[in-house]
Parts: sequence; structure tokens; C-alpha cells
Amino acid sequence: MTETATGTSPARARGFRSAELDWPELHRIPYPPRRIPLLGDLAGVSPRTPLQDSMRVGRRLGPIFRRKAFGKEIVFVWGAELTADLADEARFAKHVGLGVANLRPIAGDGLFTAYNHEPNWQLAHDVLAPGFSREAMAGYHPMMLAVAERLTEHWDREQAAGRAVDVPGDMTKLTLETIARTGFGHDFGSFERDRPHPFVTAMVGTLNHAQSLNMVPAPLAPLLLRRATRRNEASMAYLNRTVDELVRARRAADATGTGDLLDRMLDTTHPETGERLAPENVRRQVLTFLIAGHETTSGALSFALHYLSQHPETAARARAEVDRVWGGTAVPGYDQVAKLRYVRRVLDESLRLWPTAPGFSREARRDTVLGGEHPMRKGAWTLVLAPLLHRDPSVWGADADRFDPDRFDAAAVRARPAHAFKPWGTGARACIGRQFALHEATLVLGLLLRRYDLRPDPDYRLRVTERLTVMPDGLRLHLERRAPGTELAAA
Ligand code: HEM
Repeated sequence: MTETATGTSPARARGFRSAELDWPELHRIPYPPRRIPLLGDLAGVSPRTPLQDSMRVGRRLGPIFRRKAFGKEIVFVWGAELTADLADEARFAKHVGLGVANLRPIAGDGLFTAYNHEPNWQLAHDVLAPGFSREAMAGYHPMMLAVAERLTEHWDREQAAGRAVDVPGDMTKLTLETIARTGFGHDFGSFERDRPHPFVTAMVGTLNHAQSLNMVPAPLAPLLLRRATRRNEASMAYLNRTVDELVRARRAADATGTGDLLDRMLDTTHPETGERLAPENVRRQVLTFLIAGHETTSGALSFALHYLSQHPETAARARAEVDRVWGGTAVPGYDQVAKLRYVRRVLDESLRLWPTAPGFSREARRDTVLGGEHPMRKGAWTLVLAPLLHRDPSVWGADADRFDPDRFDAAAVRARPAHAFKPWGTGARACIGRQFALHEATLVLGLLLRRYDLRPDPDYRLRVTERLTVMPDGLRLHLERRAPGTELAAA
């Protein structure tokens, strides 16, 4: 890696300038009462739940607000109108700041963490985007099914033994195996392990560390986070070794490959310039895709299963759709997945309440005025709080906290303003893996609904754990097998 945790690019340095310099009329943006000199707005802040703290503050202060900690001030936006303005690509672009910037030591100029000006972003985007075409997705479908079958085998065993299943743990196994198999032809053997694969432990450690770096003053980080930093270095070294081994194995196999993401990274040249990804960049892309390609989808599936278990009438309606659309087909084909319109609405509604990548940052490309009211100098940036945007009462109504998949029926979607639902980010830097995640998650929800009734623990109350992404904490479900003959095992 060419950049260290303390190394900065000009854009990153700009990101940490005081907001006062970049937002000339900052005084018009509200901040919480009881600001403490030097320390800032620390009252009621927990290092474990910065997102949920900001949601609480945001609900009180309104669609744009600011919080300060140790001299660093951040402007947050969640109003639908302001977010729509930030989606204007002519005036705003992705800002690599906060947690995303903290991942630079491991992901460097990989697709997710690249600064807009880095040439490797466009190169990798153009080389890898065809890996998410309809044709590519249809090729991944049988592998997604094969991984899902490993999950149902595992869940059948747990169910037969009368044990509740560990939903986030098992969804993480599923989504890691899916991206590893489809993208890189690799098998982590997650379902053969009792504990998470060390890759997952190292990844979670790195995500947690990136989040903790936001919570301490930068100059004190080496002191306050000394042990955590050492652990993080060990995690990063493990992640890099895993990736290097995976790439070495593919090169050694000297196979022409199946045209998966790794083949594209190693062999495909840019259609216009003929350039290829450099070996160091391949390492960063593999890691980026292994992490971005599973952590958020795992959370999305887990939240959806939570809501389905809490809303039996929704589960019954979704299951009826699966039975109707898939009928007696033992193994659903590629085209049968997108036909599960109601299941997809369940997924969208879960991502509305808990978008699993819960924020994205936007910076001004030039001096401009946000929402006609808030002047921003070139480079000024703000963080969009997606879970609050998705609960903006002016768009979603006074009952925005209520789970209701019908918010996503076609007429309701058409009636809503654009940009009110942003779980995939926005513009040129929006999620490249969106169709992949939607196909995988819809398929898996369909298979699980068809096979099991989901029984929640009556005492469970949703707790959300944060590590840059969000995930339901401690969610376990009891399963009941539905009458045989309606599910995959019959295949
Ligand atoms: C439910 C699942 C997912 C959610 C909620 C999600 C969300 C997001 C969001 C919000 C961004 C934009 C971040 C920003 O603006 O800073 C993003 C970017 C990205 N996502 Fe996803 N994602 C998901 C699944 C996936 C999958 C399955 C893959 C890969 C197979 C993937 C790969 C990426 C990459 C590489 C980027 C960076 C794109 C770029 O900047 O060019 N994501 N994702």
C-alpha cells in the first residue's frame, strides 16, 4: 500500500478542514445544545452507535444539522429536497471522507475508496461494469443457487435439532460464499465452520477500526488506539495474504477462466485505451469486492428476515407469491427471480428502514448554494444520513417508522419524488453491485420463504449494531419446515 493511515491526499486533507471555512454561513445550520468547548457535541454520544446517535439528533434538529467533535465539524443532511439537490452530478460528486477514507490503507484506490480524480477509478469501472450485465448475472445464478442450498442444508440440520438459527451469522456465510464463488471461483468453506471464517473476523475488525478512527481526535489516535491499531495491522495483513493467495492460485491454474470478476481484473483490457489493472490495484479490487460484495447484502437479508418474522401477514403474502410464481418448479430459473415483485418490495422496505450502507458523502464540485439556502465553497462536503432520509415525514408520512412493503408498489413509487430512496448511493459512484445484491437477496428470500415458517423469539427487540455498515444484533429465529414438495430439496 502506498498510503498509510496517517498519509493524506489533498482531497482527504480538505475533508478534515473545519466546516466553517467551507460553509460560509454555517451559523444558519443548527447544532445540538450543550456544546462543550474543545470537545464539541459529545453529550449522549456512544462510540458504538454514532449513526443512531446522529439519527436521534437529526430528528430533533431538522433536515440539515451539524455536529462537532474535537474541532472537526460535520454537516449532515437528511431532508429529501436537500438530498435531491445533492444528487445533481453537475454540482456535486462523491466525497471520500470519514469511514470511507479510513479504509484507504486497506482498499487504496479500489473502486469504493478511490478519489474521483484517480485514473484507476474510471479504468476499473469500465473493465468491471460488464461483470454486472444481465448476461453475467444469468451466469452467476446457478452458483448462487448452489450456495443457497448449502444454507438450507445447514438450516435443516439446525431445525431438526430444535436449535434457533443465527441469522446475521448465517447470512454472512451465505453472502461471502456467494461473492467468493461467483466473482473469484473461491470457496471459503464457511458452512463447514462453527465460527466465522478468519477473513470475516479480520474484515469486521478493519471496519470497526475505521469507525473508531472517527471517534477520537486524529493526533491522539496513535496513542489512544495503539493496541487497536496493532490488531488492525494484523487484520489487514491477513486480508492481503488471503487475496494474494487467491490471485496466485488463479494464475497458477493458468486456466482461461470463466470470465468472472477475477478474470476481468487480471486479463481484460480497457476497450478504448487497452490499459489493464496493475497488480497492486487488482489486490485492492479483489478485497473491495469481497468486502463490499457481502457485508451489506448480509445485513439486508437479515433485516428482511427480521421484518418477515415480525409480520406474519407479510410473510404469508410473500410466500403465496413464491408458490404462485415458482409453482412446482424445484429450481427457480434466472428469469423467475425478478418476477417475485412482492418479495422485492419486502427487501426494498427493509432497505428503507435500515439501508445497510447507511450514509454517503457528497462534495461541491464548485462554489454553489445547497437547496437555494446554504452556500458551500468548492470542496465543502456533507454526509447524507440515509435511514433518516428514508423516514422523512414529508415524503414517507407520519408513520414512516412503520414497516409496510406496499410503499414500494409501482404506483406509490411513481408518486414519490426522485431521490427519496437512496440505499445504493447516487450518480456515477452509486453501487455497481446493485443488481447482483438484488438478485441474490430476492432469490434467497424466495427459497427460504418457500421452505420454512419463521418464528421470532417473542422477547427479541431489534438492536442495530454498527461497523460502518449496520446489522441486526443477536437475531435468532426458530424455523418450521413447510410441507415437503414445495421447496428446493425436492430437486
Ligand atoms: C444490499 C447490498 C448493498 C448495498 C446496500 C450497497 C450500497 C452501496 C452504496 C450506498 C454505495 C455508494 C457509497 C458511496 O457513495 O460512498 C456502494 C458502492 C459500491 N458497491 Fe455496493 N451495496 C450493496 C451490495 C454490493 C455488492 C453485492 C457489490 C459487489 C458485488 C457492491 C460493490 C460496490 C462497489 C465496488 C461500490 C463502489 C462503486 C464506485 O464508486 O464506483 N455492493 N454500495
